[in-house]
Amino acid sequence: MCGIVGIIGKGDVADLLVAGLRRLEYRGYDSAGVATLVNGRIERRRAEGKLVNLEARLKEQPLPGRIGIGHTRWATHGIPNETNAHPHATDRVAVVHNGIIENFVELRAELKARGCTLESETDTEVVAHLITLYLKDGMKPAEATHAALKRLQGAFALGIVFAGEHDLMIGARRGSPLAIGYGDGEMFIGSDALALAPLTQRITYLDEGDWAVITQQGATIHDAEGHVVKREIRATALSGALIGKGGYRHFMLKEIYEQPQVIGDTLRSYVNPTSRDITLPSLPEALVTAPRMTLVACGTAFYACMVAKYWLERIARLPVEVDIASEFRYRAADMPKGGVTLVVSQSGETADTLAALRYARAQGQHIIAVVNSPESTIARESDTVLQTLAGPEIGVASTKAFTTQLTVLACLTLAVARARGALSAADEGRLVSALIEVPARAADVLNHDGRLRDLAQGMIEATDVLYLGRGTSYPIALEGALKLKEISYIHAEGYAAGEMKHGPIALIDETVPVIVIAPSDELFEKTASNIQEVVARGGRVVFFGDAKGIGGLGDIDATCIALPEVDPFVAPILYSIPVQLLAYHVAVLKGTDVDQPRNLAKSVTVE
Ligand code: G6P
Repeated sequence: MCGIVGIIGKGDVADLLVAGLRRLEYRGYDSAGVATLVNGRIERRRAEGKLVNLEARLKEQPLPGRIGIGHTRWATHGIPNETNAHPHATDRVAVVHNGIIENFVELRAELKARGCTLESETDTEVVAHLITLYLKDGMKPAEATHAALKRLQGAFALGIVFAGEHDLMIGARRGSPLAIGYGDGEMFIGSDALALAPLTQRITYLDEGDWAVITQQGATIHDAEGHVVKREIRATALSGALIGKGGYRHFMLKEIYEQPQVIGDTLRSYVNPTSRDITLPSLPEALVTAPRMTLVACGTAFYACMVAKYWLERIARLPVEVDIASEFRYRAADMPKGGVTLVVSQSGETADTLAALRYARAQGQHIIAVVNSPESTIARESDTVLQTLAGPEIGVASTKAFTTQLTVLACLTLAVARARGALSAADEGRLVSALIEVPARAADVLNHDGRLRDLAQGMIEATDVLYLGRGTSYPIALEGALKLKEISYIHAEGYAAGEMKHGPIALIDETVPVIVIAPSDELFEKTASNIQEVVARGGRVVFFGDAKGIGGLGDIDATCIALPEVDPFVAPILYSIPVQLLAYHVAVLKGTDVDQPRNLAKSVTVE
């Protein structure tokens, strides 16, 4: 969360900074700002709200300067207004920050006691003042920054420029990602390589605790102790082209429609088309013998883990523990040496997931990561990387990343099942065939788009919506509820259908739509009984099932969407699509900001 960018350029940099921020806006859009040096003096332009407001401000009051830093904010400390917008500055130093300075309260008190006037409510501003005090004590910029970094607790990526220093920028990283980009007589920093992709393809990722002194000629990188260290410069494969909506009204809709393609791309990288064998990078031996596997993630990626638990336990006969990263990391659980932990993350930068990974590593686990971004910190810190080939996902609500995560986890399940001798060749063949069919069936599901839009019309007045499912449909119910609440702002809850009578049934009346996800599987009859219980209480049921299931419901008062009949193994991948579309259409009809819903950010790099 929060995107940062910095440039030492050959010409004026304000426009390039804003272009970089445009590519980072997925990280936060509460406010934005840039600072440059104009005749040695720090000058800032900042604006509340989205980047367009900053662009308008810069049009009214252009900002020259060949060196500068920029920021797009997801507010943590202090409301989203102009005063709290970054860069934060004194007359000597300007700072942009991603992360949280946890000891800012005591630092603020110390700074005030030393006569500093802090104008914002942010944690970040203390960094600018702290460095300024060290400069006033006579330290040089690098020395002052290092001294200040040692005082900071918490997580940060920082970009810093100094009054009077036209050829000096400092970047620092602890907890939050920061990349350095090498140009030809120009240098860059950015929260990710995507921000820098149009400017340079040559990138160095700072390691934990690193800080870099950057001039036009290059970067000198120091570790936390201040020793000069070498970090590899890599060529990034990311394209500099700005990703467009391809004629769709929103990125989210485009990404929903890309699913047949990207699920197919992902499958092709894990399934041999001729032999139909699953081909994964070498799996750790521990997966064959492990008594248990641990799956950890956040948000939608966590629901992908939940589905995988059902698959791995059922098909691979491997007991699985699944947990939310922010809970897991603090539970201080003992983990068996030689065990396997799998983390799932679209961005590969989610702070809690990364911390969970590091905890598991410290416990001697082999780490497998399912990530969409192969250059991310999580990918770099994992032993085995299984990439989802979803391509860049821009909509804050995850769609294609989720279904490609499920696709990878399905392949992993089959590979582990085979390695553990838990799957007959015939069953493996059947399940692989079902997987290969998924892209075509996903395209069939998209044909229901118009019908789902009509259905959405009847939901826009709802204040509560329930999603029910059993087995692998239970995490899809949770995902459906998450999608609806995050983009339409309607309260929604996902529930295990069998658990409904232990609470949520009390909510049911004719105003509460109940979305039931029930492909024809061995639990279908049980869910069908739960539908009867809802209807008996006047609830409005929307049923996502197949023709067989709809027939099985008999003459019941429910709106039914007939999805393709598929092997229950792949149903969670396909049934994700109608819940995405339903949430999308409700949000569009309600007029919310679908791609950038309020209060959310796509990459969550703070705890
Ligand atoms: C945020 C995003 C979600 C995502 C979650 C985990 O909440 O809005 O779409 O599922 O973070 O992100 P990750 O990048 O780790 O998958």
